[in-house]
Amino acid sequence: MGKEMSLARSKMARLTLQGVTRTYREGRRRVEALAPIDLSVEQGEFVTLIGPSGCGKSTLFNIIAGVDRADSGQIALDGDLQGDRRGKVGYMPQQPLLLPWRTVEENVLLGLDVRHVPRGEALQQAHALLERFGLAEFAEHYPATLSGGMRQRVALLRTVLFNSSFLLLDEPFGALDALTRIVMQRWLLELWESLHVSVLFITHDVREAIFLSDRIYVLSARPARILRTVEVDLPRPRRQESLATERALQLEQELLELLVKEQTV
Ligand SMILES: Nc1ncnc2c1ncn2[C@@H]1O[C@H](COP(=O)(O)OP(=O)(O)O)[C@@H](O)[C@H]1O
Ligand SMILES: [Mg+2]
Repeated sequence: MGKEMSLARSKMARLTLQGVTRTYREGRRRVEALAPIDLSVEQGEFVTLIGPSGCGKSTLFNIIAGVDRADSGQIALDGDLQGDRRGKVGYMPQQPLLLPWRTVEENVLLGLDVRHVPRGEALQQAHALLERFGLAEFAEHYPATLSGGMRQRVALLRTVLFNSSFLLLDEPFGALDALTRIVMQRWLLELWESLHVSVLFITHDVREAIFLSDRIYVLSARPARILRTVEVDLPRPRRQESLATERALQLEQELLELLVKEQTV
């Protein structure tokens, strides 16, 4: 009881997890994906989960988004411990699906269709966002004609339109080349800063985590548990040079050392 009350009351927290576990069962086989996980995301924060592949990161996102359930533990979204979380967070899964037969604009509108926003209003919102984040000229294009980076932008804007205030982004830049990635990271920070959204982000790229985050949770190999919580005390706005400062290099070293120990080859 005491625990529940404190969770629900922790004021500025958008999201709080306490003791969340998950084990998959297939017949007699058990795959323990999450050891007890505790974490939180405050209003307006950019928080990152970093961990070896297969450790349970996407599992955790599915649970937070309400499309899978935890075996134990508690999750509070905006202080609500009991409610159905489906539709209350903007979730961009690891393989976001853009519908190939729909244009950029129509794909972005999907987020609003799901919420039954009237067409006129939906179009207006979609256009404003496409314009503001550099996609207006691609509105009539089909996904197949776009670069990988552009496709990820479209998927991200769709997620923002679906729920603009809390985003779960599962390795959105994982498949992009290094340079495109850097451009996308800056673009995402701009979006985060100007829309005042809270973000929970997954990556296995240490520099990406440092560049973007206020806080990083370092996860162990499966079953995921939190090895360390790192506050990224680099000033904002972040610039590419931010990553070359002594503090950034120190953080990079610290994170790499932790992660290399968890990596099996
Ligand atoms: N639906 C499922 N049924 C059974 N096992 C699963 C399922 N989803 C994921 N797993 C297993 O759980 C572990 C964690 O997977 P996942 O959360 O996708 O890891 P990550 O996103 O960190 O790479 C993996 O061993 C994976 O094979
Ligand atoms: Mg994953």
